[in-house]
Amino acid sequence: MARIDEIEVRVKRRFEEEGSGHDWWHILRVRNLAMKIAESESVDPVIVELAALLHDVADHKLFPGTLEEGLEVISSWLKEAGFDELVCRKVTDIARDISFKGAEVDDAPLSAEGMVVRDADRLDAIGAIGIARAFAFGGNRGRLLYNPAIPPEMHDSFEAYRSSDAPTINHFYEKLLLLKDRMHTKTGSEMAAERHRFMEQYLNQFFDEWQGNR
Ligand code: ADP
Ligand code: NI
Repeated sequence: MARIDEIEVRVKRRFEEEGSGHDWWHILRVRNLAMKIAESESVDPVIVELAALLHDVADHKLFPGTLEEGLEVISSWLKEAGFDELVCRKVTDIARDISFKGAEVDDAPLSAEGMVVRDADRLDAIGAIGIARAFAFGGNRGRLLYNPAIPPEMHDSFEAYRSSDAPTINHFYEKLLLLKDRMHTKTGSEMAAERHRFMEQYLNQFFDEWQGNR
């Protein structure tokens, strides 16, 4: 019998101490959102749950080695927990391509299960939680909150996106505000619309306070 709970234990151990907003609670929220979105989609819930749990293990921001090495870790955990080759492939295909790669870079195509997990991951990047995570990430990497002299950049390659060290406010324009139009599922789009409005309200207040207007 293959064991999802073994995967959960491994992922929890790896992300418990993570301090850049990709901690175990992020993984749990993504898992819960993905399971909720999956209820209205024709997808295999086991693949959705496994991919949600494992989606950040090989992430370029978090994994010290190459992408292939990160995907190897995912495969070995799945095999040790009793999952077969096909499950390994479906889950690593999602982990390989789930990430946002730049404002002007098209999202890589994913399976139906992958699109559910990508929507869940993107929902956790926006709204009140998304704002908190963005500043946690920026603080972790020593970024400024904001610098009016540095305008946002619409990155047209993953390299340019990945190597940016712009202030955190720029990240809203370079990624977070773009996500609502890049959702795949109906449930995801509806939830994203509300979270998006909240971020716009937040940014208005931020700039008003920056100018000392409120
Ligand atoms: P993705 O793989 O799509 O990037 P993740 O789950 O790895 O999604 O998390 C991305 C989150 O990490 C962002 O939504 C944000 O909170 C944070 N992050 C990544 N890059 C930056 C950045 N340059 N500035 C601020 N936050 C960032
Ligand atoms: Ni994530």
